[in-house]
Formats: sequence, structure tokens, C-alpha cells
Amino acid sequence: MPTALITGVTAGIGEAAARAFVGAGWKVIGTGRRADRLAALKDELGEALHTLEFDIRDEAARDAALDGLPEAFRDIDLLINNAGLALGLEPAQAAKLSNWTTMIDTNIASLVSITHKLLPALVARKGAIINLSSVAANYPYPGGNVYGATKAFVRQFSLNLRSDLIGSGVRVCSIEPGMVETEFTLVRTGSRETSDQLYGGVNPMTAEDIAATMLWVAQQPPHLNINALELMPVNQAWSPFLVHREG
Ligand SMILES: NC(=O)c1ccc[n+]([C@@H]2O[C@H](COP(=O)([O-])OP(=O)(O)OC[C@H]3O[C@@H](n4cnc5c(N)ncnc54)[C@H](OP(=O)(O)O)[C@@H]3O)[C@@H](O)[C@H]2O)c1
Repeated sequence: MPTALITGVTAGIGEAAARAFVGAGWKVIGTGRRADRLAALKDELGEALHTLEFDIRDEAARDAALDGLPEAFRDIDLLINNAGLALGLEPAQAAKLSNWTTMIDTNIASLVSITHKLLPALVARKGAIINLSSVAANYPYPGGNVYGATKAFVRQFSLNLRSDLIGSGVRVCSIEPGMVETEFTLVRTGSRETSDQLYGGVNPMTAEDIAATMLWVAQQPPHLNINALELMPVNQAWSPFLVHREG
């Protein structure tokens, strides 16, 4: 039975991924900060899920949790770097610096750090990495400033990892979704109303859509690497360039 470590299983895409991978016969190590949600998921998924409670930015807590994994969950075949967030939609000149540093610490620094920790073991097992990037990596939009930049990092880091890992058998994929209805916008804006308005009438992608895609990526034969996958709901597309006219 292969083992996946999925960061951020207490909500949204990560939670759906934990269900999908356990449903497909995988063992899953699921991480997050909210203990009550980890416990509820553990009740639901049972022995196939091992939960670890830590803030992904806290390297010491993370290492203590990973180094203490029970025997049955020690051999990790797949790392899914899913934990992440956007904070704020203000233009750069009005944004809070603390929001920017939280996004950089969570979406970039923590992702790089856990990848660095697990890479030797993944190489030894010819494992795989799936990183959650975003369409925000590929297309700028107003208010996307640092969030989009963190996801561009994730995409490019994923591609560069492939260059270094050539010959190791390790596969790496950057998943780049558009609108997925999760707690993402609630976290971003702090407003349930704004979140409901954003997704209302759009028929957005679901967390289960992305989880099924990640499972499909993981199930490809060992000689095949899906480098990057961009997904959008049918009701989302690109906007024209912004043009400002003077006077
Ligand atoms: N929803 C979208 O439209 C969309 C589109 C493209 C990409 N993405 C990306 O997909 C990933 C998952 O997002 P989602 O939509 O599922 O959002 P979500 O519903 O808000 O879930 C985010 C998950 O990340 C975890 N997390 C956040 N900060 C953390 C921290 N400091 N330490 C540990 N865990 C942390 C949360 O757990 P705790 O709060 O319990 O710690 C939660 O489990 C993110 O990387 C996001 O950028 C989302």
C-alpha cells in the first residue's frame, strides 16, 4: 500500500484528497493546524489516515512530528504540498506587509523546507511530488500581487526540481487550478458573504475535482511525468489587458 503525505487536510482540496487517496487504497499522512478537524477526518477515514497537527511554518514542530511517524507510515511515496493560502485582495500599494510575509512563509518557505526534508527519502523510493500552484502563477490579476508570485515560484520550483531529479525516477507535477469552491476565499477576505458572492452562479470546480486530478496524476505509469496541469471551471477564462486612459 503506497503512502502519501498531504499537507493541509483540514479543509478544501487537501481534505478531499485525503478521502480520494484513502478511497483508492493509499495510506495517508494528513497535516494541519486545526486539531478538531483532524480528529473528525481520522474518525471518518480510520486506520488508513495518520494525522499530524502542526503549523507548516514551524520547522521544529514539523520535524518532531515527521521524525516520530509510526513504522507503518514512515515510507512516504508521494508528497502533496497543498497547504497554502491567499490573504487580501487589496492593490499592492494598500496591502499589509504582514499578509505578504505570511503568504511567502506558508506558500514558499514551508513548501521548500518540507520538500528539502523529504527529498532524499523520495529519491530512495522513486517517489513523487505534487505541488499546488494556481492559475495565479500564470496570469496576473488585480490584487493577486504576492499570492500570484508565490504560486509562480511553486510552478517554477516544480519544473526545476524535474531538471535536478532527472534519472532518479522521481516525478514532479505542478497543479494549477482556477476557481475551486473551498474555504480559500473565506480565508482570503474574512467574509463569508464575499466568498459566497464570488462563487455564486459560477458553477466552480470542487475540491473533489482537484483531488481526482491529483489521484489521476499519481496513478500514471512510472515512465510518465505530468509536468504541469492547468484547470478552470468552464465559466472562468482570461480577461483582456487593463488599459488606463489619461485625462
Ligand atoms: N480554492 C482555489 O480556488 C484554489 C485555486 C488554486 C490553488 N489553490 C491552492 O490550493 C491549496 C489548498 O487550498 P484550498 O482551496 O483547499 O483552501 P482551504 O480550504 O482554505 O484549505 C487550506 C488548507 O491549508 C492549510 N494551511 C494553511 N496555512 C497553514 C499553516 N500555516 N500550517 C498548516 N496548514 C496550513 C489549512 O489547514 P489549517 O488552517 O487547519 O492549518 C487547510 O487545511 C492552496 O495551496 C491554495 O493556494 C486553491
